[in-house]
Parts: sequence; structure tokens; C-alpha cells
Amino acid sequence: MGHAVKLNVCKIKEDLEGILKRKPDLVILAVKYISLKDEDDIWLADYFEQHGINYIGSSSEVLKFDSNKVLAKSYLRSKGIKTANFFNAIPGQYKEESELPIKFPLFLKPMDAANGNGVDDLSFVTNFLDFESKVLSLYELFNFPVLVEEYLDGREFTVAVINTLNGGLIVSPIEIIPPESRNGLRILGEKVKTDDSEELKKIEDQEIKNRVGKLAIDSFLNLGVRDFGRIDIKANKRGHYFFMEANLVPGMTCGSSYFPKACEIEHELTYDKVLELLLEKGLSRVPPTAQPNKRINLDTKFFDTTFLEHFLSEKGAQ
Ligand SMILES: Nc1ncnc2c1ncn2[C@@H]1O[C@H](COP(=O)(O)OP(=O)(O)O)[C@@H](O)[C@H]1O
Ligand SMILES: [Mg+2]
Repeated sequence: MGHAVKLNVCKIKEDLEGILKRKPDLVILAVKYISLKDEDDIWLADYFEQHGINYIGSSSEVLKFDSNKVLAKSYLRSKGIKTANFFNAIPGQYKEESELPIKFPLFLKPMDAANGNGVDDLSFVTNFLDFESKVLSLYELFNFPVLVEEYLDGREFTVAVINTLNGGLIVSPIEIIPPESRNGLRILGEKVKTDDSEELKKIEDQEIKNRVGKLAIDSFLNLGVRDFGRIDIKANKRGHYFFMEANLVPGMTCGSSYFPKACEIEHELTYDKVLELLLEKGLSRVPPTAQPNKRINLDTKFFDTTFLEHFLSEKGAQ
């Protein structure tokens, strides 16, 4: 696309400060935060926002919906979007089955993890003993109240959504079919994801595709997602569809990550084209005055006309 790009591996604060000094037009974040020794994590969107550096993806405020599933679910529910009934639990909080706010079968997972971490066959729980044991193991692992949901027994989908330069959305819904486990369950847990043993499929049924796509768009817009995001959706056997979670810094590994794969399966977008769409959107926020020394190629297609007109009038005024 004609830009100079630099890859920075950031391990310490000084690495980040080096980026601030260079004042790039756009920072592409590969992760949400970096962990420092003996200090709080640095949330990158927050950091670059505070220092006035343009970055790709959602604001730190919106990224909270990615990090905290309960926050996203509660917010979307208040907007009338369907999500599985849920409650939180810590070990010992419930003494017996009759105290549980939702009936078995239940699904237990961490509130703020990703990549299927903490999710396995034991997440599917049908009795109080197994409930207590999974609450304990997740609590010990993540040190956070456990998210307990009604179990959704239907098909699973994920939807890549790209907000384009002209304000439109490119919506790519696909079905994900995890392999059947020994217990006859199909769960997208950590092992399935690292083994890459799930099947990604084009949705052939137009009505299902529309419903899944619409739920993803409603979730995307209500959460205020910027640039792009991936919405996970699950159905129940009765054919109701539920928002499961929002992935706002989705994996972008060429050849395996769901986001580029979904774009390819649904719209035949190549990996490079997907990245180009994300970059041109991010770059459209670059204030024209912030790049006075850049070579401007009028043929470069990522400059939309409003940007160019603005840029040219600024130049003319100087
Ligand atoms: N309420 C539920 N009922 C049935 N399966 C679920 C439920 N919630 C999650 N799962 C399964 O667990 C997987 C991981 O859950 P998800 O919330 O997407 O977390 P992650 O951040 O690890 O992707 C899902 O892809 C799905 O297979
Ligand atoms: Mg998920």
C-alpha cells in the first residue's frame, strides 16, 4: 500500500516510548495489553489514546466488552439482544442445587479469558458435585468469579465484521463445528483450538445466515465497536440464536485465524485484502496535517475522496 512499516516488539515501557517518539500515523495492535514485571499491565489502546497516537480497532472503553463477557452480555441484554441466561459463582457460594438461579445443564467458563482457556468437557455440568468442582478449578486458575450460563445445545457460529471506509459493514458469518468429544459434546475449548481440529464452514441456509449476521451487526453496533470485530454466536436446538462474546482484537494469523478465514469463506476475500480494508479504515483517521512530508500518490486507492478533498483544501490553504 506504499507505507513504511516498522514492527516493534514491546516488552518494557521504554519500547512503547520509542513508538511515541516516532509518532506513526497508525499503530496496529497485535495484543490488548502487555504485562510488566512488578507493575500493572499496560492496556495498549488506552496508552496510545492518552498519547494521541492513532491505532487500529476499538477504544479502550469498548475493549472492556471484550475483556469482560458479563459486561458485554448485560449491556446487550439491556438493548434487547438475546444472550444465554447467566450468573456468577465463587467456590462455596451455593450450598445446594436448589439455590442455583438456573437449572442444569449449565456451562461454566472464565469471565475474562479467551482462546478457549479454561473451557473443556468439564464446562458442561449436569449435577451439583461437578458444578462445585468446575467452579473451584476455574476460580483457582483465573482468580475471578466464574461465569455460569444456561447450556446452549445448538450450532455454533462466528461472524467477522469489518467497518469500511464508506461506513458500510462487510459481514462474514460462518459455522464452526468442533469435533465430537468422547462425551458426545461439541465444545470449542482450548485443546480443540490449539489442535485446529474444528471445521469452518460456509453457511448454506440463507435464512440462518441472515439471522446470525443480523445478530452480529446488532451486537457490533450496540457495543460501539470501531473498525472491526468478531462476534461469537451459539444457537439452541429450538433455533434461537444467542450472542456469546465479542472478540475485538481477534487473532489474525494467516491461514488459521477465524477472522480472515470467515472473510475468505463468505466473501472470498484474500488475507491481503482483509488487512488492506482494516488499514485503509485506520489510516482514514490520520489528520492530513499530521503527515506533511509524506509522498502522496493520488492514485493510491485507500484514500477515499472525502479525505483527499480535505487534504487538498488544507494544502491549498497553506
Ligand atoms: N452457554 C454455552 N453453552 C454451550 N456451549 C458454550 C456456551 N458458552 C460457551 N460455549 C462453548 O465454549 C466455547 C468458548 O466460549 P467463549 O465464550 O466463546 O470463550 P472464548 O473466549 O474462550 O472463545 C464456545 O466457542 C462454545 O463452543
Ligand atoms: Mg469465543
